[in-house]
Amino acid sequence: MASVPNSDELIFFVNGRKVIEKNADPEVNLLYYLRKVLYLTGTKYSCGGGGCGACTVMVSRYDPKTKKIHHSPVTACLVPICSLHGAAVTTVEGVGSIRTRIHPVQERLAKCHGTQCGFCSPGMVMSIYTLLRNHPEPTLEQITKALGGNLCRCTGYRPIVESGKTFCAESTICGLKGSGKCCMDQEERSFVNRQEKMCTKLYNEDEFQPLDPSQEPIFPPELIRMAEDPNKRRLMFQGERTTWITPVTLSDLLELKANFPEAPLIMGNTAVGPSIKFKGEFHPDFISPLGLPELYFVDYTDDGVTIGAGYSLAQLNDALHLTVLEQPKEKTKTYRALLKHLRTLAGAQIRNMATLGGHVVSRPNFSDLNPILAAGNATINLISKGGERQIPLNSHFLERSPEASLKSEEIVLSVHIPHSTQWHFVSGLRLAQRQENAFAIVNAGMSVKFEDGTDTIKDLQMFYGSVGPTVVSASQTCKQLIGRSWDDHMLSDACRWVLDEIYIPPAAKGGMVEYRRTLIISLLFKFYLKVRRGLNKKDPHKFPDIPERYMSALDDFPIKTPQGIQMFQCVDPYQSPQDPIGHPVMHQSAIKHATGEAVFSDDMPPIAQELFLAVTTSTRAHAKIISIDASEALALPGVVDVITAEDVPGDNNHQGEVLYAQNEVICVGQIVCTVAADTYSHAREAAKKVKITYEDIEPRIITIEQALEHNSFFSIEKKVEQGNVEQAFKYVDQIIEGEAHVEGQEHFYMETQTILAIPKQEDKEMVLYLGTQFPSHAQEFVAAALNIPRSRIACHVKRIGGGFGGKVTKPALLGAIGAVAANKTGRPIRFILERGDDMLITAGRHPLLGKYKIGFMNNSVIKAADVEYYINGGCTPDESESVTEFIVLKSDNAYYIPNFRCRGRPCKTNLPSNTAFRGYGFPEAAVVAEAYMAAVASQCNLSPEEVKEINMYKRISTTAYKQTFNPEPLRRCWKECLEKSSFSARKLATEEFNKKNYWKKRGLAAVPMKFTVGFPVAYYNQAAALVHIYLDGSVLVTHGGCEMGQGLHTKMIQVASRELNIPQSYIHLSETSTVTVPNASFTAASMGADINGKAVQNACQILMARLQPIIRKNPEGRWEDWIAKAFEESISLSTTGYFKGYQTYMDWEKEKGDPYPYYVYGASCSEVEVDCLTGAHKLLRTDIFMDAAFSINPALDIGQIEGAFIQGMGFYTIEELKYSPEGVLYSRSPDDYKIPTVTEIPEEFYVTLVRSQNPTAIYSSKGLGEAGMFLGSSVLFAIFDAVTAARKERGLTKTFTLNSPATPEFIRMTCMDQFTDMIPRDDPSTFTPWSIHVS
Ligand SMILES: Cc1cc2nc3c(=O)[nH]c(=O)nc-3n(C[C@H](O)[C@H](O)[C@H](O)COP(=O)(O)OP(=O)(O)OC[C@H]3O[C@@H](n4cnc5c(N)ncnc54)[C@H](O)[C@@H]3O)c2cc1C
Ligand code: FES
Ligand code: FES
Repeated sequence: MASVPNSDELIFFVNGRKVIEKNADPEVNLLYYLRKVLYLTGTKYSCGGGGCGACTVMVSRYDPKTKKIHHSPVTACLVPICSLHGAAVTTVEGVGSIRTRIHPVQERLAKCHGTQCGFCSPGMVMSIYTLLRNHPEPTLEQITKALGGNLCRCTGYRPIVESGKTFCAESTICGLKGSGKCCMDQEERSFVNRQEKMCTKLYNEDEFQPLDPSQEPIFPPELIRMAEDPNKRRLMFQGERTTWITPVTLSDLLELKANFPEAPLIMGNTAVGPSIKFKGEFHPDFISPLGLPELYFVDYTDDGVTIGAGYSLAQLNDALHLTVLEQPKEKTKTYRALLKHLRTLAGAQIRNMATLGGHVVSRPNFSDLNPILAAGNATINLISKGGERQIPLNSHFLERSPEASLKSEEIVLSVHIPHSTQWHFVSGLRLAQRQENAFAIVNAGMSVKFEDGTDTIKDLQMFYGSVGPTVVSASQTCKQLIGRSWDDHMLSDACRWVLDEIYIPPAAKGGMVEYRRTLIISLLFKFYLKVRRGLNKKDPHKFPDIPERYMSALDDFPIKTPQGIQMFQCVDPYQSPQDPIGHPVMHQSAIKHATGEAVFSDDMPPIAQELFLAVTTSTRAHAKIISIDASEALALPGVVDVITAEDVPGDNNHQGEVLYAQNEVICVGQIVCTVAADTYSHAREAAKKVKITYEDIEPRIITIEQALEHNSFFSIEKKVEQGNVEQAFKYVDQIIEGEAHVEGQEHFYMETQTILAIPKQEDKEMVLYLGTQFPSHAQEFVAAALNIPRSRIACHVKRIGGGFGGKVTKPALLGAIGAVAANKTGRPIRFILERGDDMLITAGRHPLLGKYKIGFMNNSVIKAADVEYYINGGCTPDESESVTEFIVLKSDNAYYIPNFRCRGRPCKTNLPSNTAFRGYGFPEAAVVAEAYMAAVASQCNLSPEEVKEINMYKRISTTAYKQTFNPEPLRRCWKECLEKSSFSARKLATEEFNKKNYWKKRGLAAVPMKFTVGFPVAYYNQAAALVHIYLDGSVLVTHGGCEMGQGLHTKMIQVASRELNIPQSYIHLSETSTVTVPNASFTAASMGADINGKAVQNACQILMARLQPIIRKNPEGRWEDWIAKAFEESISLSTTGYFKGYQTYMDWEKEKGDPYPYYVYGASCSEVEVDCLTGAHKLLRTDIFMDAAFSINPALDIGQIEGAFIQGMGFYTIEELKYSPEGVLYSRSPDDYKIPTVTEIPEEFYVTLVRSQNPTAIYSSKGLGEAGMFLGSSVLFAIFDAVTAARKERGLTKTFTLNSPATPEFIRMTCMDQFTDMIPRDDPSTFTPWSIHVS
């Protein structure tokens, strides 16, 4: 950091070491400081806005008042370093390391298989570690709560929670349900009778080191002395553009506030920080009273609780909790309402950072607390140099009327929350896309006071959040209702009036207008019921209770700690103990993931003279570029160059993929130019200053419908057909036609796209370190862009922080863009996409439109199907044609339809170019087959499961493209799934539940799956390996596959260990590189372990054949002896291994082929409960049966299945991309794109690997990387089942269009009732909606 005069020294500790920063810059956050200044790269960047938890660290502070040390988890990306004076920071490196001692938290996360790519792991470790520092024996609930702010895109959370559970006193790895008896015992017994014995232990807890809290580092005594220093003085830190002042006393603070009235008070920085980063706010001065004792207190008085403004929301939670324990229930209704919302507000980190004062003053329109505080008649105590005063926290304050707000020199000292009274009810209500760590779609705080002993309304207050730019009060409605009885008439009037008073315009920001309108009155109805129930409890004779069937409307879904069992085949007891094949071996890098020592591309130390690259992207979907003016950007400090299409020496358009936009832009988010500067912040600031003028071009095509109108496609139609479809339609009993829309999905890999491009001095060589699933593709693009031979481009991949298909093609494009910048500037380029840019630029899964016509008999046997698929490919070809082919080939899923025609076509639109995504077309297409199965079931009055079974492939069969296969494992998975999940009994129980509950419904559904592995192009399936044996006997294995969390390298070590007959510890696998293995195929299509395994096996077998004569001569010898001897005999100890690939093909003209080497089968069953009033759902249980043939590593395979299932579940339920009608992607952060968190996973989760034969693949295994994704659709169909039950009860038609994702909005608006009937509807021709669907 640049040296600035007049700045104080910032003193804090990091991992026990004192840091004295003489030039502390207020604009620098702790994450940057750790990574780029202290080179502690264990703490990761993933979103930069507090929403993902990847950057979690522990901050410890000494409180001189209580003489206690407080440990809090915080997201380092939102912590300004200047706020850390006197604090001790612990990062993952400080918790434990391989070099010193790994901590039990790290050990258990790794050994419980809680890491896959490892990018989220340091954050997970820090969340659990901090919890243990505060509670060495936590409860199960505390574990789940501590992890709510940490996202993981790989694991599905189950193993992470399980590692945390091992610290609980009440630990129940398999969820003993308090009985001391394993809940799966019965099932296990039945397995024992079968041929292969089943195992359930994926790790051995006896190996775990105990947790010894006395071994934790002590809090630095110097910081205690600093905190207790009576002569503390004001501190000032002067940065490049801003000043930070930390007052030392309250009067000092008030003085400062009077002198700098515009300066924000930085407390948690969770409101100011994101505004600066994402909204471009700038503040020249900051005042930070963080830690000022006068702001930290709680006063329990006779009439309520007064809480200091400095209290974090976590401290507020504790204070309220105490009050609730101590005070009679009737006094604590407001506190309990606040506690309910505090449980789900953000994650633990934000709750520990955000303060009550900051929350109240920042008044976010989505605030979960302010509506309740207002409804509970809270008051704000203000103070300024001029004195103290109170203002009510009421509608005027929340709606920001200037006369009811703080004066610029005032600060909030505390907030007073009065006790509730006897005839007084207070509630907090909310609905969000996911249960925890998501802003509310609509929330409310409501209270009513009655005349004593009556139900006559004396006072009523209703405040709503997320319905306008501020929290709003329905004060007119409330006023009109005073004096009314709390009855159905009152409710009916209240609903009508509140809808008039709180009007959400049809084009309102945030969209979901009709849904939000419905929520306004649905939440009111919930409140009405709660109050009626409360009145009844007070006087059951006077006030009738609500109907029994309405009871379930009262409560939100509880958050429970997930539990489950994983079952897999035990290893043959006669297998050599050294042979690791079939064992649940821990991921090769797991410990390094957990200690933060696993190096990702951006963790590599700075390279001399390196520059940072930031992008300027198109703001128009289709336009001519009139001019690019970079002069202002070039004039900014630190800027070295601006790079455009003109600077590309070779192909700027390679295979239809454009690097830098030239002459025209074809989507919003297309890269027009990049800026290279000395720091990332300089590059980013400059990139914003590049001025581009455009002239729109018609047509602008955003949706599939628009593409069909304009006949805009990338390729010709792909088709397969069998039987005589037209003829068959003539003889069927019934025909149905329908459509299904499946929206896209964002990969949301935790590590964003990362490229380091280093130009070499000689021969135009360029070295790239990147996160890619396809290094040779990156090599190809870079060579083409620079117009040099591929042999001069070296691409290296150590590991990837999640790929899921999103790092197959895109890194090539970005790598070439980075390489062009490196070539032009002659300096190394570090090109890391920010989360928002990554989401905008790289796109994801294809949105899909499926149209079907199905002919079937009355007994539900389907005789004919004519299905058409269109996918939204975006603006360049990428892999859209190939995805379409996969869709056409795979869309029959598990069903035999004798007369079957399937066609598909990729649409060309002006959206960012969609690309590969786990499952590669199958998850979006197969769901359409399931939808028409459900539609047929509905017509035939059968359950969908019956219809699926009737139409399922039954015997050795041939697909429409004439590939023959035996579906026996499919039938077995299906049968076991239904049996072991007790499907029939639970179906009855569900129906029983639904009869008894009107507002909550349960649904149960099972889906079967036939999935393909590999590629229909034979040469894509080839692989190579390079194995060296060194003279000490150690072995270096290299192959063409990339490690992205799936455990590929671990499996390859297992293969080499078996083949060479040596322990795994002898074998090392360092990286993937185009230098060692050229022309490698992508690591995708679930075949990484298959093909690379065969190549490694081949290399090892070649080496073993060479060693055989030596071994034969000395059979008792050691490996090391044989190697030494071989060297003496001049036998080469290095070889390549090669696998020619599966001989797959597809002849599209003949509609015939053998496109896939084998199939993977599976089935899953899920049960959900939906809240018909809000649209929320809870996943109660999932059972998965997956045909793994023989699993090389059950821990890794189960990890893939669970992770893919949760990713699939997210895709089908809560992950929703929002586009403007002009093609602008709104959802560009974890704030507005919700992937599942720990609270979304099934409460009970059972996974079983089913044994079958697969001679085609190595050791008779199967590739399981993608298959679990589609099984997530069992949740979608369970929701469908629940919604169908609700609709049936309401007398609605049986069928409705099933679209994906089944978001809360979809669920609520499909469960139509008196409330959905009541809301105003708008004529679609009269307005332009805020967002549109693009499928
Ligand atoms: C990832 C994330 C998720 C979130 N999720 C939710 C959610 O689900 N529900 C929800 O309701 N909220 C949520 N929030 C918002 C969060 O509750 C607020 O940002 C937070 O409460 C603000 O407190 P702070 O201490 O961080 O404020 P700061 O950012 O430090 O300050 C905010 C403003 O308040 C002023 N201020 C602070 N203290 C005082 C004082 N004592 N007197 C006068 N002015 C003061 C400052 O000048 C500044 O203008 C989320 C935030 C993040 C980052
Ligand atoms: S990077 Fe800090 S929370 Fe995501
Ligand atoms: S292991 Fe959690 S994000 Fe990859």
